[in-house]
Amino acid sequence: MVVRSGFWHNLLHISFIFLLLPQCCFCGSDLDTLLILKKAMIGPQGSGKDDWERSSHNYCSFSGVSCDHQSRVVALNVSSLHLFGSVPAEIGLLNKLVNLTLADNSLGGSLPREIANLTSLRLLNISNHLFSGRFPGEMTELEVLDAYINDFTGQLPVDQLVNLKKLKHLDLGGNQFTGEIPGNYSMIQSLEYLGLNGIGLTGKFPSSLAQLKNLKELHVVYNKFEGGLPELGTMESLQVLDMVNCNLNGTIPISLGFLKNLRALDLSNNELSGEIPESFSKLKNLILLNLCENNLYGQITPELSGMVSLTALDLSYNKFTGEIPESFSELKNLSLLTLSSNNLYGQIPNFIGDLPHLEALLVSENNFTFALPESLGRNGRFKDLDVSGNHLLPA
Ligand SMILES: *[C@@H]1O[C@H](CO)[C@@H](O)[C@H](O)[C@H]1NC(C)=O
Ligand SMILES: *[C@@H]1O[C@H](CO)[C@@H](O)[C@H](O)[C@H]1NC(C)=O
Ligand SMILES: *[C@@H]1O[C@H](CO)[C@@H](O)[C@H](O)[C@H]1NC(C)=O
Ligand SMILES: *[C@@H]1O[C@H](CO)[C@@H](O)[C@H](O)[C@H]1NC(C)=O
Ligand SMILES: *[C@@H]1O[C@H](CO)[C@@H](O)[C@H](O)[C@H]1NC(C)=O
Ligand SMILES: *[C@@H]1O[C@H](CO)[C@@H](O)[C@H](O)[C@H]1NC(C)=O
Ligand SMILES: *[C@@H]1O[C@H](CO)[C@@H](O)[C@H](O)[C@H]1NC(C)=O
Ligand SMILES: *[C@@H]1O[C@H](CO)[C@@H](O)[C@H](O)[C@H]1NC(C)=O
Repeated sequence: MVVRSGFWHNLLHISFIFLLLPQCCFCGSDLDTLLILKKAMIGPQGSGKDDWERSSHNYCSFSGVSCDHQSRVVALNVSSLHLFGSVPAEIGLLNKLVNLTLADNSLGGSLPREIANLTSLRLLNISNHLFSGRFPGEMTELEVLDAYINDFTGQLPVDQLVNLKKLKHLDLGGNQFTGEIPGNYSMIQSLEYLGLNGIGLTGKFPSSLAQLKNLKELHVVYNKFEGGLPELGTMESLQVLDMVNCNLNGTIPISLGFLKNLRALDLSNNELSGEIPESFSKLKNLILLNLCENNLYGQITPELSGMVSLTALDLSYNKFTGEIPESFSELKNLSLLTLSSNNLYGQIPNFIGDLPHLEALLVSENNFTFALPESLGRNGRFKDLDVSGNHLLPA
């Protein structure tokens, strides 16, 4: 009995300390918070949070949890655990969190306002959920905000985002946002990655985004913009420009050829017309150029062989005419050449057979004549040939 009362006495004593000490220096409080989170973010049996138990004192070794020297939780990763339910307000108590990854579950509802208490947060990954309501983003230390695929609606958020001076990675794609891309996203000068895929945004693509000098990747596929491509030639860091199926019309601006760091340019499935600007010959780092399914026309000019790094070139389903330039023999790294459904004619030049990396030659529905190069297929990699709808004879 003595032992037992001593036990209860100690327990009461401990609880008392618990209440008195400010939460910042008592390790127990983060344990309580984690257990509240476990209850609100419900998982199926064996969800991967099974080791989150009060009896296990060292919550810093819970799966997905990392702590600092004061045993405060600094990183929480509960991605892909089939969780449903919601994020409770108590998340705001984990105010030393630096990384919060909830990605790839089925949590829904609004994110609690208290998430703004996470003033040290640098990474917030809530991709692949059913979140709706108020969009988060007041945390001034944020560098990464990934909200890809959720149920957020209304205009794209502005006020929560434009004051984030450290934000590098922003993904809002796959949500139910409407309206235009806010021109004042140009204020987020730290941005390196902007993802707005598959939203159905309308309006003109804002030319102010050309001021994002640090932007490396712009992904805006499947939107319904009005008018053409803006002048983006000042985006000196841009490496990837991905604007597939964006309802773009007009011509390709010459200034795109000034983007010296460009590695991938995909403007396929738009209404672009006119010729490929000769300035593209300066894109020495371009690896992928996809212009298929537009209304582009004119000759494929010999100068385009200046794109010496090209491994994939797709000009299919346009109205190009003329011959394949001999200068393309300089495109030594070419692995995929797709020119189907144009008005090209002449011979398939012999050098095509000698390209060391060529894997596919797709030139159907043109007006090519004579025979295929004899050396085609000798590089040991070649596997895909379509020459149907031409006047070629077998070699
Ligand atoms: C947060 O994530 C970043 C990148 O994913 C990583 O480099 C960093 O070490 C993480 N920080 C903590 C406290 O876990
Ligand atoms: C989070 O955990 C998942 C699954 O264990 C892992 O694949 C992923 O790399 C982790 N992410 C981070 C940012 O630590
Ligand atoms: C959030 O911060 C506010 C103001 O600092 C504080 O009053 C509130 O208790 C905090 N709430 C949570 C859940 O962190
Ligand atoms: C967010 O998490 C998902 C799922 O784990 C992952 O695929 C994605 O790359 C993460 N986003 C960032 C910016 O790290
Ligand atoms: C963003 O731009 C819109 C329209 O030009 C303007 O009404 C709004 O005040 C701007 N917001 C900020 C935070 O600059
Ligand atoms: C582009 O489309 C818009 C409507 O979205 C139209 O007003 C404009 O005339 C078109 N411009 C060209 C060059 O076809
Ligand atoms: C061709 O590819 C190789 C290997 O990927 C690379 O080292 C080389 O720089 C490329 N050549 C050009 C001209 O881009
Ligand atoms: C192919 O060339 C012939 C003449 O040589 C021309 O009549 C025909 O229109 C051309 N077809 C295409 C699809 O360009």
